[in-house]
Amino acid sequence: MKALIIGASGQVGGTLSSLCVRRKIEVYGTSRFGQGFLYLDLAAPASVSAAFAKARPDLVLLCSAMTHVDGCERDPELARSVNAAGPALVAAECRRSGAKLAYFSTEYVFDGRNGPYGEEDAPNPVSVYGRTKLEGERAVLELEGALSVRTTVVYSHNPASKNFIMQLINNHRSGLRMRVPSDQVSNPTYAPDLAAAVLDLAEKGASGIYNVVAPDRLGRYDFALKACAAFGFDPGFLEPALTSELGQAAERPLVAGLKTEKLERELGRGLPPAEESLRRIAALIKQYE
Ligand SMILES: NC(=O)c1ccc[n+]([C@@H]2O[C@H](COP(=O)([O-])OP(=O)(O)OC[C@H]3O[C@@H](n4cnc5c(N)ncnc54)[C@H](OP(=O)(O)O)[C@@H]3O)[C@@H](O)[C@H]2O)c1
Repeated sequence: MKALIIGASGQVGGTLSSLCVRRKIEVYGTSRFGQGFLYLDLAAPASVSAAFAKARPDLVLLCSAMTHVDGCERDPELARSVNAAGPALVAAECRRSGAKLAYFSTEYVFDGRNGPYGEEDAPNPVSVYGRTKLEGERAVLELEGALSVRTTVVYSHNPASKNFIMQLINNHRSGLRMRVPSDQVSNPTYAPDLAAAVLDLAEKGASGIYNVVAPDRLGRYDFALKACAAFGFDPGFLEPALTSELGQAAERPLVAGLKTEKLERELGRGLPPAEESLRRIAALIKQYE
């Protein structure tokens, strides 16, 4: 099997690339920058067709997105082009070539008034990011056999990434205080666990929407405390704050989180609990020190 990972330079795409190599799947990865990647810009249609012509994939893992939630709010036109029109272009290439498509969607398709949410619950995004990702998801799902994986608060030990856990590690290391929302509830998810489950779903031929998140549904501040306990950090640098106090451009879903019964039925397992994934990161922190 040959896989094309769109957004292989990112947190999830990078993790998926390593996993594909370990599973002996031939893999092409894309980025708009950097060596060793195929060039692909979701806002530049010709680059999408060129990458497909070069890679001729059987499976496409669409990880690329404009992921900066407040950045999307400030530039909705670019967000729509990358997050909504881009996936439609990718779906059209998959339709032409017969490739299977797996798309990374988000819990931010919901308003966060009454989570946790199942796959069948009605979306109602409250930000440009959420709205454009939902448009992308809908475009992808028009392709027969396409898979859309909804996830949230993805973290990993990756010095190149600004994910929540890397921010926590870097702030602790630099002796900086960190304001953490106490009123955002969801299921933080470890990127390697997410990648393994998505590849398993794709290899089984799963289609439609699947929630893929870790089982622990908890507030962001509580998650930060859990991480500090696992890493042996004094949590004194953490400051709980309400989301409304953070002055962010985009609204966040607050009472969110995703249900995973459908995933558990399909794979016969859920994702490991946060404590186990955080222990794996603690071991990596020790290794890098
Ligand atoms: N991280 C989370 O907490 C989270 C939660 C829910 C859903 N998701 C979804 O999961 C997916 C992966 O997230 P992530 O954490 O890996 O994000 P990330 O680390 O921010 O990576 C984003 C990727 O998108 C690529 N990209 C950005 N603009 C692009 C454009 N115009 N054309 C082509 N590629 C572009 C970047 O590549 P270059 O800049 O190198 O081109 C990079 O590879 C995204 O679709 C995101 O919406 C993430």
